[in-house]
Amino acid sequence: MNLAVVGTGYVGLVTGTCFAETGNNVICVDVDLNKLEKLKKGIVPIYEPGLEAIFERNIKDGRLQFTSDIKEAVRKSEVIFLCLPTPQNGDGSADLKYVLGVAEELGRFFQDEPGIGFKIIVDKSTVPVGTSDKVRALIKKHAPRFDFDVASNPEFLREGMAVEDFMKPERVIVGTSNEKTRKILDKLYEPFVRSGNPIYFMDERSAEMTKYAANSFLAAKISFMNEIANLCELTGAEVDKVRAGIGSDSRIGKRFLFPGVGYGGSCFPKDVVALVNTANEKKYDFKILRSVVEVNKRQIEIFLNKILNHYNGNIKGKHFGLWGLAFKPNTDDVREAPALALIEKLINNGASVTAYDPEAEHNARVVLGEKIKYAGTSYNAVENSDALIIVTEWNEFRNPDLEKIKSLMKEPVIFDGRNLYDLDTMRENNFTYYSVGRTAVIKK
Ligand SMILES: NC(=O)c1ccc[n+]([C@@H]2O[C@H](COP(=O)([O-])OP(=O)(O)OC[C@H]3O[C@@H](n4cnc5c(N)ncnc54)[C@H](O)[C@@H]3O)[C@@H](O)[C@H]2O)c1
Repeated sequence: MNLAVVGTGYVGLVTGTCFAETGNNVICVDVDLNKLEKLKKGIVPIYEPGLEAIFERNIKDGRLQFTSDIKEAVRKSEVIFLCLPTPQNGDGSADLKYVLGVAEELGRFFQDEPGIGFKIIVDKSTVPVGTSDKVRALIKKHAPRFDFDVASNPEFLREGMAVEDFMKPERVIVGTSNEKTRKILDKLYEPFVRSGNPIYFMDERSAEMTKYAANSFLAAKISFMNEIANLCELTGAEVDKVRAGIGSDSRIGKRFLFPGVGYGGSCFPKDVVALVNTANEKKYDFKILRSVVEVNKRQIEIFLNKILNHYNGNIKGKHFGLWGLAFKPNTDDVREAPALALIEKLINNGASVTAYDPEAEHNARVVLGEKIKYAGTSYNAVENSDALIIVTEWNEFRNPDLEKIKSLMKEPVIFDGRNLYDLDTMRENNFTYYSVGRTAVIKK
């Protein structure tokens, strides 16, 4: 099948590459000329495990191309995937200017070239309920007689696992009321669900809601567990034991039960707020979700307070080594990363920071610039520090040389926002160790 992917970011690039991998001809479109230059040179502009190999193979085989010319891409393609940003507006709603801007562009193009045949526009961006209808109406406004359809196909890939998630999705959601569209998308996704995972066909609005409901539910699970962790600290319970105890209940499940410094990333923060906004528009007070947002904001403050309390409220002049800038491991994405918010707070309180991240330094630099120092290794980051702060649970942080760390630091103090270490190990190695939902270990 000939496909166009409009927007070649984390979702678009993975979508385009994986569809090319199953034999389709894919043209990826973007307006970012720097990004396109890299892509055309065969450079993957993001860190995503497993992507490079299939990216290179499909470019070499001629199935994956890149362009800034949306018309050329659309003219040649039967299905057009919109993988455009939907950032948060000031009022919390999803900003649809990219999606609706491209819909407008497509409408004008279809008006100018009515003979290019039936097209399916598939929205993969996370968009509020009713957006498919808006896209359809915009195209129709310009090209009322053009033969096209608009479907919703929200994406569930996780950064860091994106290729695996796309190639073997737990489920595919397709929102369409059109039988022809259904057949084409069924055929397109057939190679990805061969092991029996379902494709759920539904109407467009339900598909749009499914994506928000999924992200909001997962965010709620994280906020719930963070509240349990906070209460464990106040009552003397240990959250690891509680987590194991409840996670073995299949109704609850083991995943998304790890407390920490709060969720971040390019999806959960904006999607939860957007769903609250949708509810508000319908005059419905979505109480649980409003609390999910509040709890998440508070969680980073609670972590900061742990640091402040250790120094009797004053961290002026203190120097911290900090591990992890990406919003989660295995990605270089720092959008809404808790580390960046924490760093700003530490600096505002007069502290200095040297940070290390295996992949995200280049993106963090764009946001933080020279406000902090960047280290080339995890050990360099802790040199001469008053304490180590851990924000992202990269695997390489899980089993460090604790004697070496201690010898490099001024004081053996760790604030661990991800519960990476065993409390006994910290006691045996004479660290002062604060984590989340667990007893603090205070060096004698
Ligand atoms: N990142 C994720 O893990 C993830 C997962 C599921 C769903 N989503 C959703 O998918 C959508 C895209 O997310 P992303 O993380 O890939 O965003 P992104 O910012 O990484 O990529 C978007 C791309 O679109 C390009 N673009 C902007 N305007 C354009 C235009 N007019 N024409 C062509 N290209 C244009 C940008 O230059 C950028 O490369 C969002 O709605 C997001 O919520 C993201």
